[in-house]
Amino acid sequence: MTRKSDNDQLSFTSGRIKKIGILTSGGDAPGMNAAIRAATRSAIAAGREAVGILRGYQGMIDGDFIPLQSTDVSGILQLGGTMLKTARCKEFRTPEGRRRAKEQLTAAAIDAVIVIGGDGSFTGAWVMSQECDIPFVGIPATIDNDMYGTDYTIGYETALNSVVCAVDKIKDTARSHGRIFFIEVMGHEAGLLALNSGIACGAEVILIPESKAQHDELQKFLEKGYRDKESSGIVMVAEGDEAGGALHIAEQIRRDHPDLDVRISILGHIQRGGSPVARDRINATRMGIAAVDALLNDQKSIMIGLDNNRIVHVTFNKAVKMNHSIDTGLLEVHNLLNGM
Ligand code: F6P
Repeated sequence: MTRKSDNDQLSFTSGRIKKIGILTSGGDAPGMNAAIRAATRSAIAAGREAVGILRGYQGMIDGDFIPLQSTDVSGILQLGGTMLKTARCKEFRTPEGRRRAKEQLTAAAIDAVIVIGGDGSFTGAWVMSQECDIPFVGIPATIDNDMYGTDYTIGYETALNSVVCAVDKIKDTARSHGRIFFIEVMGHEAGLLALNSGIACGAEVILIPESKAQHDELQKFLEKGYRDKESSGIVMVAEGDEAGGALHIAEQIRRDHPDLDVRISILGHIQRGGSPVARDRINATRMGIAAVDALLNDQKSIMIGLDNNRIVHVTFNKAVKMNHSIDTGLLEVHNLLNGM
């Protein structure tokens, strides 16, 4: 990981890159538009052309490109989703798909590409950058916040707040009926969204793939905590929990404890939408500028990251291969507060 000394400073030096392609790929995340806007405008400020590549790698293969002027990215900062559209593209995983993509980039004279997405998107960029001489720089954007080498990914803050708002509402009805709710949140194979939303909402139990021991906490709560307090309960479940998601776990609990009033709520894609919160807009803007700055300083095959709120460069190799770890100390503190 390289720490940049003058954070958020622009020093566009390379004359080699004239036209920069920008794409969003994988699951959309609130704040992607802010990153598109920042990358477009900083490329233009540096005297370069910006081009939008539609529908991620699929648009690269199909040559679906649109020129981006400063006015094209006006009014998008506060919008969720992505103005460039996104896709999970199977064809790009094949050498033939990437060969076609390279031909399209060359035909459009696109010299460099900024990929806004998660680890699947960076894996594609990394593979392609090894096969051709087009530099790629990544901006991490996923509500999962599960990328190695960065404390933060675009969209996470908004998703976290969306989950907190939803759970607060569910708590009202849970309390009124004295019910136990199993609430499933997204996060692919990562539990950060479940962990932090669970803490923010005062959930009784948090089940995440990173800690199997949490299932003991659930048993403790069902056998003692719930009855002692004669109250309701919230069990946050990360979709990647190894016991199989909220539906599966709740069915098991219903079988084992037929006297309990159990309900299930799967928050789903509501977590991916909505206007980005201020932190996502600000960080996406910083990362968009940093990506252009990196390319124009001859960097390639790196992801822009944030480490202690400072911009850093992380090689694709590390970003996609290494696992993002989670602070399980926070989970222990949560258990302590809820076991009392
Ligand atoms: O990676 C972002 C994410 O929202 C994950 O949390 C989730 O597992 C996945 O995308 C869902 O993807 P899709 O919208 O393609 O079903």
